[in-house]
Amino acid sequence: MLGVCYYPEHWSELLWAQDAKEMTELGIVYVRIGEFCWSRIEPTENQYTFQWLDRAIDTLAKAGLKIIMCTPTATPPKWLIEKYPDILPVDIYTGQVRAFGSRRHYDFSSKNYTKEAMRITEVLTKRYGTNKSVVGWQTDNEIGCHDTTHSGSSNAKNAFQVWCTAKYHTIENLNTLWGNVFWSMEYQDFKQIELPMLAVTETNPAHQLAYRRFSSDLVISFHNKMVNIIKNNTVDQFVTHNFIPMSDTQTDNFLLASNLDFVSYDNYPLGRSDLFFSTLTAKEFKPYMRTGHPDFSSYSFDQVRGLLDKNFWIMEQQPGPVNWAHHNPRPEKGMVRLWTWQAFAHGANCVSYFRWRQVAFAQEQMHSGIKRVDNSKSIAWNEIQQVRQEIDKLLIIDEYINIRVAIVTGTLNQWITEIERQGDSYNHQKVEFTYYSVLRQLGLEVDFISVNSDLTKYDLIIAPCLPIIPDSFITKCKKTKAHLVFGPRSGSKTDEFSLSPNLAPGPLQTLLPIQILSIETIRPDCSETLSYNNKLFESKCWREELSISKEVIVVAHYHDKSPAIIRHKNISYLSTLTCSSFLLAFFENLCCELDIEILKLPKDMRITKRNNIAFVFNYAGYEQQFPVSEIGKFLIGNETLGPYDVAILKLNK
Ligand code: GAL
Repeated sequence: MLGVCYYPEHWSELLWAQDAKEMTELGIVYVRIGEFCWSRIEPTENQYTFQWLDRAIDTLAKAGLKIIMCTPTATPPKWLIEKYPDILPVDIYTGQVRAFGSRRHYDFSSKNYTKEAMRITEVLTKRYGTNKSVVGWQTDNEIGCHDTTHSGSSNAKNAFQVWCTAKYHTIENLNTLWGNVFWSMEYQDFKQIELPMLAVTETNPAHQLAYRRFSSDLVISFHNKMVNIIKNNTVDQFVTHNFIPMSDTQTDNFLLASNLDFVSYDNYPLGRSDLFFSTLTAKEFKPYMRTGHPDFSSYSFDQVRGLLDKNFWIMEQQPGPVNWAHHNPRPEKGMVRLWTWQAFAHGANCVSYFRWRQVAFAQEQMHSGIKRVDNSKSIAWNEIQQVRQEIDKLLIIDEYINIRVAIVTGTLNQWITEIERQGDSYNHQKVEFTYYSVLRQLGLEVDFISVNSDLTKYDLIIAPCLPIIPDSFITKCKKTKAHLVFGPRSGSKTDEFSLSPNLAPGPLQTLLPIQILSIETIRPDCSETLSYNNKLFESKCWREELSISKEVIVVAHYHDKSPAIIRHKNISYLSTLTCSSFLLAFFENLCCELDIEILKLPKDMRITKRNNIAFVFNYAGYEQQFPVSEIGKFLIGNETLGPYDVAILKLNK
């Protein structure tokens, strides 16, 4: 299915019917509305002006469109801020109040805001909760975006003190667990606890971790309240939220998603690539400047599919240049179609484009839409139309089957590595992405799971970065027959952010008789050699000194012949960050041993198999041949893929 984000409040009412008609002509089924319209539905306190929204819904529905309504809580109006100034959050880097005048200007710890956000949710859901044209709800908008999970307000501080009291019970316990004796940071009372901000130099990592856990809990509790109201007041309407990546929400996205019917994701491959790959050289970056890296969009798709282990939606898909990255290139011709198909291939049930028409005023006037300001059709129109025609030729089966490879992910690990960098060259997302990309280059489908997930479905489970390993995960590891691969830093920390008392890999030592004696970080451009199967690869950025017992097999050595990668039974441990070519060789051999079928395609070509359908994507700006013959029948395209082309096959088996 296809959808679009529409803002009736931005356009003359005279345009609505024509817009709706054209949407259906384009094959759009779902329209998302309302996420920023609070000032138009309640211009002054308790004075509701829903008539225009009723008419907008009617107009869209008359054309046959289905509506996704949003709670407008990402944009509290001015009168509400004036009434409750404590809604505004406080910047944790400067201690300044973040002002009204854009969006997401609210503090999750403001009780006034929680009350008001739930009130407007109640009012809206009572009005539209049984409206047959409204098929579902989106909560808020991109929770956590613009660094809004954390606030340094006095409300946040008070709530944090309460949270600490509930978690640690006595102040002595907190002092001990955080190690507050260090630098005389001991507290005598929970009421004295500060937020970890504006200090002279770094604050205690255990304190920072507790604050991140607290902030995440607050976001989840706010969101759950909203989800509950929606569920209570609606009939046959789904509830979803448009997520941004976990690195940006700074919230445990697995928990945030847990009460939703399904997860949605906002896919901006070019804008996000510009930020994510900012350290690449021009030579490395330029080939993907207008496409995004071949594995970048699917990395997010697979991650959001993992949050509930089910299909998801793309609620916002970039249809052309965006306005918010450092640089905002135009997608190559064909990419809107390719990204759409890639989302479907990885489990999207609907792809909805942001936005219907580019808007001439305010903050996002440089952001493209499907239609231009003068109402002419932008290039995305034709590509979406092509997708629509192609969808009609296919029958897509809902769920993935038989994904044998999983990556263990989670916010906690990311927080540890952000709080304790230990070297500029360690970046959790980049480490994880490197592993993911290598697996995709081998033609493997990948699930993202958490430490709480069931491991029994997988044959290969990879934890690129797991500093805190809960005992429950160790128990599952003991039971699994899968091969487990752990990256550096695994098991190096306790749950309260101290070093593991028995040295890293901490609790993993019950399965793996090794110890990490020391670690070092080095500049990315000062890599050293890693010798594996008589070939030389790179060891870089992060390196650990291993002590191993004699039954452990050394798989690869550092330049000084000390062990770098080891194996014991069904567990491999990589004590360094390395290059993609090593990981490719390593996982190719492992898959061969584990009887996991791989499929190596030309550079920048990817395949995604979904039940009996295979999707082939050519991210290259030149024609490439799909090299495998006779695995199925082409439903769309053929073995010659043009630049940025998609082909779809029905597989023989
Ligand atoms: C998203 C957001 C939209 C719009 C869009 C622009 O992050 O949800 O409201 O701002 O970015 O790319």
